Amino acid sequence: MAVKRITVLGAGIMGNGIAQVAASAGYEVTMRSREQRTLDTAIEKIRNSLGRLVKSGKLEEAKADEIASGIKTTTSLEEAVSNTDFVIESIPEVLDLKQQQFVDLDRLCPPHAILATNTSQLSVTDVGAKTSRQDRVIGVHWFNPPPVMKLVEIIRAAQTSDETLQTTLDLCRSFGKETVVCKDTRGFIVNRLLLAQRAEACRMLSEGVASVEEIDRAIELALNHPMGPFKLADFAGLDTATRNLEGMAEAYGDCFRPSPAILELVKEGHLGRKNGHGFYDYSSGEPKPVK
Ligand SMILES: NC(=O)c1ccc[n+]([C@@H]2O[C@H](COP(=O)([O-])OP(=O)(O)OC[C@H]3O[C@@H](n4cnc5c(N)ncnc54)[C@H](O)[C@@H]3O)[C@@H](O)[C@H]2O)c1
Repeated sequence: MAVKRITVLGAGIMGNGIAQVAASAGYEVTMRSREQRTLDTAIEKIRNSLGRLVKSGKLEEAKADEIASGIKTTTSLEEAVSNTDFVIESIPEVLDLKQQQFVDLDRLCPPHAILATNTSQLSVTDVGAKTSRQDRVIGVHWFNPPPVMKLVEIIRAAQTSDETLQTTLDLCRSFGKETVVCKDTRGFIVNRLLLAQRAEACRMLSEGVASVEEIDRAIELALNHPMGPFKLADFAGLDTATRNLEGMAEAYGDCFRPSPAILELVKEGHLGRKNGHGFYDYSSGEPKPVK
């Protein structure tokens, strides 16, 4: 199937990056969120991100402007999808929300459109279970930040057709991404391993084994990870990180259960880099230990 028009649902950390990648690859992109304010912030972030590419000589200024101004934004779901070929849903990691969104998409999208979810760990089959087009439901798990990270994990749901899988693989390759295909199991490949480490790091912190900075430094220097588990959790957003751990604990048991170290931060409204405070303080832009 030829894809020309792509709709991205959600304009948060992931949605704006995915829209940037799709528009940069030459697709007609519409980004939808519930509030125009969120969409305006997302377009500003895309302009800043493209601006960094211009500064480093990787993109011409006129092209950057063409990409950013070509992304349509709307708060109307109907307008966002009435003409679409491929939807990438990137709204919060809550099964009921995603299921309802997929029911609405099923009703509003053209019959040929493929519905993809960027869930981090939910069952893709469950997300699309209430639609009448389960053969055109698939998981596309992106990594943060989407313009930089090379991989998209493709998750084949119970009834995903061969054609849907092939179209999705071709699309991701046309974005310049590498792909791996995975069975629909909670957390897929990457998050089953990554979230196990995150849960254990939070437990070590709650037990007083070492500080946030020492645990991060250990993992960065010993395993050559660019960010330790706490910097990475802050980067992902601690609300999303906690929901992911809770979801994985529901699927695999207590080894994924979020410990007080992360739960208390979220309870106090510290969501990581996105609002300036998490395991680190970002008031100066860079991660600084919390006093
Ligand atoms: N943050 C990461 O590093 C990361 C990585 C891979 C996948 N994901 C997944 O991507 C999805 C989005 O995560 P994010 O980090 O971009 O979240 P986010 O909180 O930054 O953005 C969520 C977006 O959804 C919108 N939204 C909020 N409530 C909504 C509702 N009820 N209905 C429709 N839209 C709503 C928000 O306005 C926002 O535009 C989640 O499923 C998450 O698990 C996140």
